[in-house]
Amino acid sequence: MFVCLCHGVSDKTIRKLVVEEGITDIRGLKKCTALGSQCGKCVRPAKEIINEFAKDLFKQAS
Ligand code: FES
Repeated sequence: MFVCLCHGVSDKTIRKLVVEEGITDIRGLKKCTALGSQCGKCVRPAKEIINEFAKDLFKQAS
């Protein structure tokens, strides 16, 4: 599913960046992608995906 339609960033890409690049917030995600740089509608759902996914990773690690 595309989270950022303007720049074609998917939820899969976001999860991959969290795991591979250690991205933990929207600022880090913006450094790696163009997400949020046009209409900005994707910023909120992208934050939710990062938070949910990071929480799941933390649960698995403990
Ligand atoms: S949907 Fe991401 S900037 Fe427009």
